[in-house]
Amino acid sequence: MCGIVGYIGSRQAAPIILDGLARLEYRGYDSAGMAIFDGEHIRMKKAVGRLKVLENLTHGGETMKGCMGIGHTRWATHGAPSDINSHPHLNTSETIAVVHNGIIENYIPLKKKLTDKGYTFASETDTEVLAHLLDYYYKGNPLEAITKVLHRVEGSYALGILFAEHPDEIYAVRKDSPLIVGSSDDGCFIASDVPAILKYTRTVYYVDNQEVVKLGKDSLQFFSVDQEEITKEPVTIDWDANAAEKAGYEHFMLKEIYEQPKAINDTISPRLQGDNVVIDELHMTDGELAAVKRLYIVACGSAYHVGVTGKYVIETLARIPVEVDVASEFRYRDPIMDENSMVIVISQSGETADTLAALRESRSRGAKVLGIVNVVGSSIAREADACLYTWAGPEIAVATTKAYSAQLAALYMLAIKLALANETIDSARAAGLIKDLRTLPDQIELLLGQKEKIQRFANRYVGAKDIFFIGRGIDYAISLEGSLKLKEISYVHSEAYAAGELKHGTISLIEDGTLVVAVSTQPKLYQKTISNIVEVKARGAFVMAVTNEENKAMEKASDYCVYLPETDPCFANSLAIIPLQLFGYYVAVGKGCDVDKPRNLAKSVTVE
Ligand code: G6P
Repeated sequence: MCGIVGYIGSRQAAPIILDGLARLEYRGYDSAGMAIFDGEHIRMKKAVGRLKVLENLTHGGETMKGCMGIGHTRWATHGAPSDINSHPHLNTSETIAVVHNGIIENYIPLKKKLTDKGYTFASETDTEVLAHLLDYYYKGNPLEAITKVLHRVEGSYALGILFAEHPDEIYAVRKDSPLIVGSSDDGCFIASDVPAILKYTRTVYYVDNQEVVKLGKDSLQFFSVDQEEITKEPVTIDWDANAAEKAGYEHFMLKEIYEQPKAINDTISPRLQGDNVVIDELHMTDGELAAVKRLYIVACGSAYHVGVTGKYVIETLARIPVEVDVASEFRYRDPIMDENSMVIVISQSGETADTLAALRESRSRGAKVLGIVNVVGSSIAREADACLYTWAGPEIAVATTKAYSAQLAALYMLAIKLALANETIDSARAAGLIKDLRTLPDQIELLLGQKEKIQRFANRYVGAKDIFFIGRGIDYAISLEGSLKLKEISYVHSEAYAAGELKHGTISLIEDGTLVVAVSTQPKLYQKTISNIVEVKARGAFVMAVTNEENKAMEKASDYCVYLPETDPCFANSLAIIPLQLFGYYVAVGKGCDVDKPRNLAKSVTVE
């Protein structure tokens, strides 16, 4: 969602804030703004559009002097992207400035109350309510005003706040929206994600729910919502700042596509020991695992597609019934579960609002929740009963690739572990699966070597109106992700269909030359999918097949073939997705789209 950066210290704040926001721009990019205290007044500049516009407007921050400030990049929720609706928001006397991520759910009654008391509102945002409410409660003590506001507002928020009357401090507040603070010799920082401040410090503190942080030039104090001081331990960030840079690639997305072998390797290596899977983080014995009678996999977006694959793999190997649900549906559907149920929530960011709510819902119903999460220390990682981290490193492109691949790998390991605990596979089968799992990174390298071939093919579809993806079983799950990758970054309309279902309506959209991507990696379904290819070709479709080398019949059945190296059918998704990611990427590049920051999307969706 939106990005927040704040700074107080001995250096000029505006360039530091702009630099941090640039590293967070993947979180939101409808508009941006900064408020800097110049020694007398709060000065503010806001601009609709990309951060570049704000950078130009302030000459890289040069025109805004002062050593403390807050900044924001926005992903609009309440109120369209505009200069006025951009953050920061000020109280009427311009002595309090606020930046906000999240949603204030009761902003309408609060706005009414404040309007009745004579406050006037300039924007359509929920955030402006906070600026006026702080003004209403402020009687000289910022901490008191902030905590009073926290008692009144409902919803999710990460806030950065400045008070002109307190030029030696800025404030950070958090509830259900990620926020960290950091300290260095030159000053202290607020940020909604680590990469924003990594250039300046590696010493960070994760702010917990309903905590308030008072940042001075060289001090950090943490308070509860009841104004009691809290002690907190710093965390040293040990990952490489370069991991969040483009390293010569044209886009983060391409770099991250290329990082997939490493992401998978880093995720599986520590957990594969000989012919065994060891997942200590589960804190469950084989007996406890065998007692799990029903599994739920809950997630959003691409992580949900990982779940769809997970259902096939776990049911095939471990013979446990698995239900997969998108988190925004699951949380309101009164799911039936008990202490023999286990819920797996999958999330790259660990902050997706609906997934987090599904986790809480499941725990309140007595189920054990396992998180598969990429961002260390994120809300889902902390609130789940157990957390299996994917070691994909920071993912910057909005369209996920390497985190998706690492999530798949994590689920495969879990499936093997459950299957061994349930004795539905023997040790020889497990050894074979583990061998194939270890081979995936090298096989992906091979597929990445076909980049030019895919690029040439993708260039032919830059002008496409509709592209369909079909497959059966796991191939359907792969199709879902292939289709999403394409449409989210290239804006080409695309749908994924279970191959046998297309004829029940959607086939009417197939015209002469319409591209249909047919995924066929499951030997027992080769012939079935070929029948469906015949159906679409009879209506004029051009068919690109993604299939295994051994599936010779596909050469004739389709118009264009991409072949995959051999692996266990359970792991086919990890290979088949590579050409599909490259295809979506090159269609988008060919169209001149902003691949890393597609319109209307955000990397981390912290509102429901
Ligand atoms: C957003 C992103 C998607 C992502 C989804 C779930 O919509 O654009 O790429 O799959 O959120 O995110 P999570 O962080 O929970 O995996």
